[in-house]
Amino acid sequence: MKLLVTGGAGFIGSAVVRLAISRGHHVVNVDALTYAACLDNVASVAESPLYTFEKADIRDRAAMDRILAAHEPDAIMHLAAESHVDRSIDGPGTFIDTNVTGTYTLLEAARSYWVGKGRPAGFRFHHISTDEVYGTLGETGLFTEETPYAPNSPYSASKAASDHLVRAWHETYGLPVVLTNCSNNYGPFHFPEKLIPVVILNALAGRPIPVYGKGENVRDWLFVEDHADALLLVCEKGELGRSYNIGGNNERRNIDLVRTICALLDERRPDGAPHDRLIEFVTDRPGHDLRYAIDATRITEELGWSPSVTVEEGLAKTVDWYLENEDWWRALQARDGVGERLGKAG
Ligand SMILES: NC(=O)c1ccc[n+]([C@@H]2O[C@H](COP(=O)([O-])OP(=O)(O)OC[C@H]3O[C@@H](n4cnc5c(N)ncnc54)[C@H](O)[C@@H]3O)[C@@H](O)[C@H]2O)c1
Repeated sequence: MKLLVTGGAGFIGSAVVRLAISRGHHVVNVDALTYAACLDNVASVAESPLYTFEKADIRDRAAMDRILAAHEPDAIMHLAAESHVDRSIDGPGTFIDTNVTGTYTLLEAARSYWVGKGRPAGFRFHHISTDEVYGTLGETGLFTEETPYAPNSPYSASKAASDHLVRAWHETYGLPVVLTNCSNNYGPFHFPEKLIPVVILNALAGRPIPVYGKGENVRDWLFVEDHADALLLVCEKGELGRSYNIGGNNERRNIDLVRTICALLDERRPDGAPHDRLIEFVTDRPGHDLRYAIDATRITEELGWSPSVTVEEGLAKTVDWYLENEDWWRALQARDGVGERLGKAG
């Protein structure tokens, strides 16, 4: 297949690009290269004859039309987005522009391309979204694909809006779409402003490890390479117009996750042990959802997917990757706002 991947220089998009190329797919990576992008994430495939890069903004309709006409993809996997909840609290406008208007622009370009080619039945517009659109859970229960949307942050509201647009373009115009909503990802190439890399890198540097509130928020952690595998499967085999939840079956309280990472570092860097002495509880994020947990029955039963690693295995791989790739994360730590406490304003 020839895949057009938006946001392929980001964390999850680059995992999709690397995996797709390793499986013999052609990939056109379309990315505007915002502060969150890093072309080193795709350096391992950049010389492949299967890989092409286009620096372009999904809000630029003319650029999207040109790229679609030039490369004639069989499917679009749409991952480009503003993705950091704390930044969405400080500056929601960019999230509306990119996640809502950008998705609208890309949908219109995709529709025009698909109609122009005679509406091929095999074409796919795959929209990649988040479980945060469902809002928050109490102590029990799981998000299914039927859970009503109730987003609580500007980020999750912008993703919910984009999900609705994609659904409407299927119902109204017949655009062949599939949607996925996944839980929190982690793994290699995770940008150093997100929780897990912050914990690893602060612990290594002997700096305080900030934990929001009392660390009681629960997330269902999904290893990014398992997610990329699920995305390629849904893109190829998912039923049109259908949503699939993707989760890791790995629910953990933030504080327990942080302590597990500290224990992994104690084994690997005993000089700094015990690293959990660096944990510091800080003011909670406004509107911080208590618990997310995914019911992934649909993708498991209909498409035969399940995660390949437990969170302990995935975290060990992740910690080892950060220890071996200092040049990668040092360069990104110098970028705007990284390492600062963002998103405190109510
Ligand atoms: N990270 C997670 O845990 C998680 C969980 C659920 C869903 N998601 C969703 O998965 C997708 C990818 O997330 P991520 O963590 O890899 O994000 P990321 O922030 O690491 O990467 C986003 C990429 O999109 C690009 N981009 C941003 N605006 C663009 C624009 N206007 N035009 C073209 N490119 C643009 C950036 O340059 C960057 O390379 C997002 O849609 C996100 O909402 C992420």
